[in-house]
Amino acid sequence: MFETLPGFRDFPPEQCAQRNHFFQVCRTIARAYDFKEFDAPILEPLDLYVEKSGQEIIGQLFHFEDKGERKVALRPEMTPSLARMVAAKAHSLPKPIKWFNLGEHFRYERPQKGRGRSFYQFNADLLGESDTRSDAELISLLVAILETLGLTQNDFRIRLSDRSTWIFFLDQLGVSKHARPAVLDAIDKSERRSPEDIEKSLDTAVPSRGKELLTEIREIKEIKDFTHLAKRIEKAGEDHLQLTQKWKQMMDLIDAHGIGSYVSIDLSIVRGLAYYTGFVYEAFEASGTGRALAGGGRYDHLLKKLSGNVDMPACGFAIGDMTLSDCLASKGLTPRYVMAPDLFLIAAEEQKKRGISLVSVARKGGFSTSYSLKKAGFGKQFKEAGKSGARYALILGEEEEKSGKIKIKDLRTSGEVSVLQTSLLSKLQELDSVGAINSSA
Ligand code: HAM
Repeated sequence: MFETLPGFRDFPPEQCAQRNHFFQVCRTIARAYDFKEFDAPILEPLDLYVEKSGQEIIGQLFHFEDKGERKVALRPEMTPSLARMVAAKAHSLPKPIKWFNLGEHFRYERPQKGRGRSFYQFNADLLGESDTRSDAELISLLVAILETLGLTQNDFRIRLSDRSTWIFFLDQLGVSKHARPAVLDAIDKSERRSPEDIEKSLDTAVPSRGKELLTEIREIKEIKDFTHLAKRIEKAGEDHLQLTQKWKQMMDLIDAHGIGSYVSIDLSIVRGLAYYTGFVYEAFEASGTGRALAGGGRYDHLLKKLSGNVDMPACGFAIGDMTLSDCLASKGLTPRYVMAPDLFLIAAEEQKKRGISLVSVARKGGFSTSYSLKKAGFGKQFKEAGKSGARYALILGEEEEKSGKIKIKDLRTSGEVSVLQTSLLSKLQELDSVGAINSSA
């Protein structure tokens, strides 16, 4: 017996329907925010990710050499492909560019709860606009999707931070530009690792200052509201006005979108990906346990890095399907699907051919229709119809055939009507709008 590879999933119909429900909600809400769907290849040149995504993702790439000796990788995320695509069309695309994608991604991670080696993401990105309004628009879209899936403010939180605020603080603390990535990486990992480990990493990045930096970083991470943040920014340096204003604008916009109860300032969020430059955020289940449901932020220099000549501000986020479906399941919010046909044909063997042509008519009219593929008597066919969960049986015997009619039986109420075969579709449409055949009909 073959099994799926570790970290990969099968999607039998019920799981597939649940995944599709997530897709459908994302599509509907993304359209409500006027985002357009796009797609990109699953296999990309390895170089697209090297240096652009950051060390963590590079260590997790599924990569190999193809038969043309090209170094290629299965996409671990969508952002570099999107940046490449937009940079190539930058001059012809009307701005702002608001695009979304639903697709599969691959990371060679240790399979565990909420983490697989193949997973789906909904990505939404807004390019060509540097105003904080775009960041707020995306956070609002993220909240709207999670709300539409049934989650409330008791269920999830968005933790909002800003890389440029961190850079401002690190500058004030005398951390050199060179040491910055390692310090940001240590901050990013500080919730998952022991303080001793973090101190060691900080000490390696900025020799002999590990302990002192750890104390400062802890203090900054304690900040949970705008007033304290503004005070700390003011305390740190003269050049603070722009930064405080940017935060004030963001908090006002969050208020305007009506999502204030979901969002909290939390500078412990730094994000593992190397390309972020401004506001960054992650969505978590409200208890704060478990991996992130979604994450994103502003990445103003990625297009320039990839294209060399196109400089375009950008921001976006992605929701992952695995942590999300675990979260929905734990709250009893997994939708249940009835995957039954609308109609089931029951016909005598001699009438089967005519029956199948009527099935075609019903199917073309949009009714999901099934029938027994075996030779079977009426009794067995009725049993099969019952098992299928169909609402109506279409019954075609010798008598109906002679009179050019067909019987429609409501399998819930047992009511039935006889109609001319030529008016089958209009009768089905009528029933569809009324909802049932009365048992006394
Ligand atoms: P990310 O934080 O790496 O961001 O991934 C976003 C979400 O994808 C995570 O919050 C998680 O739900 C899901 N995810 C990531 N890795 C796995 C995994 N191994 N198994 C299951 N789920 C996973 C990005 O990918 C950025 N490119 C998002 C973005 C879009 N930034 C700007 N635009």
